[in-house]
Amino acid sequence: THINWSEKSAEKGGFPHFMLKEIFEEPEVLRNALAGRIKNGKAHLPEMESVQSRIKSARNIQIVACGTSYHAGLVLKRFLEDHASISVEIDVASEFRYRNIHIDNSTVVIAISQSGETADTLEGIRKVKAQGGTVVAVTNVVGSTLARESDVVVYLNAGPEIGVAATKTYVSQLAVLYIIGAYFSQIRQDDDRVIQIINELEGMPTVFESTLSTINESIVQLAKEYYQYRHFMYIGRGYGYPTAMEGALKLKEISYIHASAYQAGELKHGPIALLDKEFPVFAIVPDDGLKAKVLSNIMETRARNARVVAICTEGDQEIGRIVNSRIEVPRVSEVLYPLVMSPYLQLFAYHAAVLRGNDPDKPRNLAKSVTVE
Ligand code: G6P
Repeated sequence: THINWSEKSAEKGGFPHFMLKEIFEEPEVLRNALAGRIKNGKAHLPEMESVQSRIKSARNIQIVACGTSYHAGLVLKRFLEDHASISVEIDVASEFRYRNIHIDNSTVVIAISQSGETADTLEGIRKVKAQGGTVVAVTNVVGSTLARESDVVVYLNAGPEIGVAATKTYVSQLAVLYIIGAYFSQIRQDDDRVIQIINELEGMPTVFESTLSTINESIVQLAKEYYQYRHFMYIGRGYGYPTAMEGALKLKEISYIHASAYQAGELKHGPIALLDKEFPVFAIVPDDGLKAKVLSNIMETRARNARVVAICTEGDQEIGRIVNSRIEVPRVSEVLYPLVMSPYLQLFAYHAAVLRGNDPDKPRNLAKSVTVE
């Protein structure tokens, strides 16, 4: 008999695509991201020591990144504002590099780039360095240009990612950025709530192991219900907004379904005009301080006959009554929902892409790393 055993399928470890394999590597990737970085319940980042005093006295914190890395940055921005009592600016690198921003030696810039080679991000940090600012790099690639040109580097240690659309490296970035956020907090504010967050973060590899072993089949079913729609609108508030953006990006990148993300509160200022029964909504609605607000936004979309998929906290009794489909995730601290929700949104996009006959590993028109402007 003929055995269909190519080198390629061996590399994929039995998975049909690298993307799926890499999603299933997330528990291990989380373990690697956190290894050695939590000591006595605190963030431990010896690689940042040389910039500790700069962080303490910083008057101005900026985050610069592109694509999925930018979405990870949006989570860090809120984390720092909530737990390190400093306001933070964030911009995509292609805009940042051409803006007239005041930068001096009291500016700390956190540059996030999986590859460490994204041209716009590199130009952004060159500008910061030229004006005396400090650059903290967060990257996956040892010896990358970003790593070489920054003051300090925190590595993801996620291993190579073959799928063009970032999955495991997004999860890894979030884990590392929570550690960095906690580190800033320890230096600047010492917020007790961070101890609880770090504690939960340590348990995340185990949480991911158990969710990934059970969720796939139900997400296949969900994707079957929705993959033929031409549009999707992702909505969220607070920490749910970066999740909406990343969920929408994943879907458009690989399934080519048009997907946009809005802050749920902005719906009434325009986007709601688009909604009808042909335009479903994906609502990010964790049980956090903004849940009631998102629920009322969902009601507005239901009134336009839009179908609604909600991703919510397990055991939520209210949501099931008002949405068409529901995905439940484990209960965590508010800041950690972007992390626990990631694999669900990634799998939804993956299965929609496969059902539409696309190769999720090699989406048309996209490159893994954009090294030209
Ligand atoms: C490309 C990739 C995205 C990635 C973005 C930023 O567009 O397709 O997946 O998020 O670049 O890449 P970086 O390596 O800077 O994180």
